[in-house]
Amino acid sequence: MKALVLSGGSGTRLRPVSHALPKQLVPLANRPLLAHVLRGVRDLGITEVGMVVGDHATQIRQALGDGAEHGVTITYLPQDAPRGLAHAVRVARPYLGDDDFLLHLGDNLLPDGLGDGAAEFRRRGGGAHLLVQKVADPRPYGVVELDGDGRVVRLVEKPRRPRSDLALIGACFLTPAIHSAVDAIRPSARGELELTDAVQWLVDQGVIVRATEYAGYWRDIADSEDVLAGNRRLLATIEAVRGGDVDPFSVVGPRVHIEPGARVVRSHLAGPAIVGAGSVIEDSRVGAYTAIGRDCVIRGSELSGSVVMDGARISGVIRLTDSIIGRAAEVGCGDRQAGYRIVSGDHSRIEVPG
Ligand code: G1P
Repeated sequence: MKALVLSGGSGTRLRPVSHALPKQLVPLANRPLLAHVLRGVRDLGITEVGMVVGDHATQIRQALGDGAEHGVTITYLPQDAPRGLAHAVRVARPYLGDDDFLLHLGDNLLPDGLGDGAAEFRRRGGGAHLLVQKVADPRPYGVVELDGDGRVVRLVEKPRRPRSDLALIGACFLTPAIHSAVDAIRPSARGELELTDAVQWLVDQGVIVRATEYAGYWRDIADSEDVLAGNRRLLATIEAVRGGDVDPFSVVGPRVHIEPGARVVRSHLAGPAIVGAGSVIEDSRVGAYTAIGRDCVIRGSELSGSVVMDGARISGVIRLTDSIIGRAAEVGCGDRQAGYRIVSGDHSRIEVPG
């Protein structure tokens, strides 16, 4: 079995972060989202990965290379524009050949893995095996109706009035039957070739399509809240590593990962947290669920629940919470009388105490 990872999307809801960094490379617990995706793929024993890429192809290639670091071999498959998931399958046809494959969206975080789904697909067969999860509001998703035996009877993409609360998560198992389906369908109202329409086409042809409920954690990483939530989820299970240098005046909690070459001076790291290689934390407090990238400097500050990307500098700032600080960004403390001074990029979001 191969894997097809779809990373062509542009991530407008994650601006300004996505202006400079494709959302699939946003760091969660200091590793790009795609590294977490590839771990899930590799854990299934799949080593051949087709990576569908669009505008951000160069950055994604630079970050992942040939995949060796992640235990897989990546073949990059350029898609001219984000024309839908089924279009990406069309693009990948020559790569996929007649193999079954795991289709995994490059912006979906599934840290509990896909082992159960894969086993179910192997055991029960069928033309496609979908994974679904109950959600409170299914309208932003592909919505699936099942019969009593777990067979899919109907799928609708982003319905206004959903007929079930089962949303399609960003991974499913497909067979070569899908290729005739993606060729047969027409673009949807939003102008995309929808995977849901392709799978519905299979159902209409009498092909057996099943779905199982996914019991693990699933998050579609679309906006900043998703980034913070995904980061929290990954840090919740982080193990203590003391790779860096912690001075005797510092206190470090049990679930803090300090990468080699980081320095902690007169600081309190409560955690769960991760501190990247080469970063310096001085006279600061780092609270729960904070990921600090490489080569950052945090001085005289207090932060929690945040993602701080490589090379950022934070000084003299207290109570920084639930924030995303971009690469090499500076957050500092100025003259008390001067009010707030902000130099922000396009689509930035800044909240000050009201
Ligand atoms: C896509 C699929 C949708 C699925 C969702 C999961 O939506 O079209 O069926 O439920 O991913 O994340 P999109 O992220 O393109 O809005």
